[in-house]
Amino acid sequence: MTQNATLMTCTADFIRQRLKDDSSGHDWWHIDRVRRNAVAIAEAENADVALCELAALLHDVADWKFHGGDETAGPRAAREWLMSQAAEENIIQRVCEIIAEVSFKGAGVPTVAGTLEGRCVQDADRLDALGAIGIARAFAFGGHFGRVMYDPEHPPEQHASFEAYKTKSGPTINHFYEKLLLLKDRMQTATGQQMAEERHQFLETFLRQFFAEWKGVV
Ligand code: ADP
Ligand code: NI
Repeated sequence: MTQNATLMTCTADFIRQRLKDDSSGHDWWHIDRVRRNAVAIAEAENADVALCELAALLHDVADWKFHGGDETAGPRAAREWLMSQAAEENIIQRVCEIIAEVSFKGAGVPTVAGTLEGRCVQDADRLDALGAIGIARAFAFGGHFGRVMYDPEHPPEQHASFEAYKTKSGPTINHFYEKLLLLKDRMQTATGQQMAEERHQFLETFLRQFFAEWKGVV
């Protein structure tokens, strides 16, 4: 995609305004981190950097988690915005395709992106679900939706369908086993895989400490 500085700046301003007050871990700064990681991964992978940046900016514009589970809400809202900015149809289509494929849909549901740019943006989004920031986001999300932190009598599940994953409402610690710890082996670019390594280790360290404190052995 040819660089269009105005479109990028206007899109960033639009998203900043729209998500600035979010307290579920899907705020503007999540978008900004994903945008920066998407650009870094795209550069290393020789992908279309501008396209990845634009799709990263729009990837959570209308997430299904906040739109009654409707997975078409995101691409539709992105299309509406890009049309209002008179973006080229070809770019709109490519951005919408990336957004439609970005989300995690359950342990048993493959989410391989169809394009290199889709793989870069998906990896960038997933990096932000790992490490210290991923832990903070998981508990922010859990608090926002009234989930209990941990319940030893409620074990994690491996969801075989998007429907089952979408409707889950278990403890936040379960989310580590149902999604976060699975991400490292599902990164789709070599760059993303490498960036995920340290963040994944940090999740393991956090969980070890969490359960040691829970049992009172430290
Ligand atoms: P995706 O669409 O792939 O799930 P997002 O950018 O929407 O990616 O971010 C999802 C993040 O929201 C997760 O990484 C996690 O921090 C949080 N999240 C989603 N579902 C849960 C849940 N049930 N419990 C705790 N955190 C959750
Ligand atoms: Ni996201």
